[in-house]
Amino acid sequence: MEHVKPLIIANWKMQLGMPESLQLAQDIKKGISKNNPAQVVICPSFISLTKVWDILKGSGIELGAQDCFWEEQGKFTGEVSAVYLREAGCRYVILGHSERREHLKETEEMIRKKVQQALNADLTPIVCVGETFEQRQEGAKDYVVINQTTQALSGIKFNLDQTIIVAYEPVWAISPSPYTIMPSEADEMHQVIYRTLLDLFPPTMVKNNFKIIFGGSVDASDAAGFIALENTSGVLVGGASQKAKSFIDLLNSL
Ligand code: PGA
Repeated sequence: MEHVKPLIIANWKMQLGMPESLQLAQDIKKGISKNNPAQVVICPSFISLTKVWDILKGSGIELGAQDCFWEEQGKFTGEVSAVYLREAGCRYVILGHSERREHLKETEEMIRKKVQQALNADLTPIVCVGETFEQRQEGAKDYVVINQTTQALSGIKFNLDQTIIVAYEPVWAISPSPYTIMPSEADEMHQVIYRTLLDLFPPTMVKNNFKIIFGGSVDASDAAGFIALENTSGVLVGGASQKAKSFIDLLNSL
């Protein structure tokens, strides 16, 4: 797995409407240093994607969405096709986020089909996996993460120039959370994900086509620590990406 440019993916969730999204995109574009060492990806809500892209285009910052549907086109009222996201400027899409697993009851099968559809549309899927606090306490964290990774990715077809990102996001560490995770604990789980990928795909594919990133209350104080871990290519940032100052501070901390 490459360590070249860390991926910093901003997940704006459903926290910002159109005016705030456009303002934040402007502020980030203005505030980002010319020598910024990261590949920044911003994932606004669907409604703001095209206008945020108008601002970001040409800046080197890339665009991502927070979900897509598992079919390309058809009678699926309210859903958004990966192909439309690609047309809107997206190169990435977050899939299987724990908030969607919880509130939208997304299943492993739905997530697997979305991953395939994203790849078909030439989007880079960011597949979120991670255990809840109760699952960790029961000693099931490895089981949960192996199972989610396996179910999301087994049988997936992709081209050799495509990338699939697995984001380890322990549900109990997502903000606001009273708990924090040490980089060493995240590292242990990244090794579990890495070994799972090796069970599913040949080693050269795991090396060339997969990246593992971490998410869960990451900010300027700890981003560099997570990125320094072995087999770790970046971070998925929620809260700290939703204000220009905290996000620019994070980028400057790398
Ligand atoms: P957080 O969110 O950084 O606010 O914990 C991360 C995520 O849910 O993707």
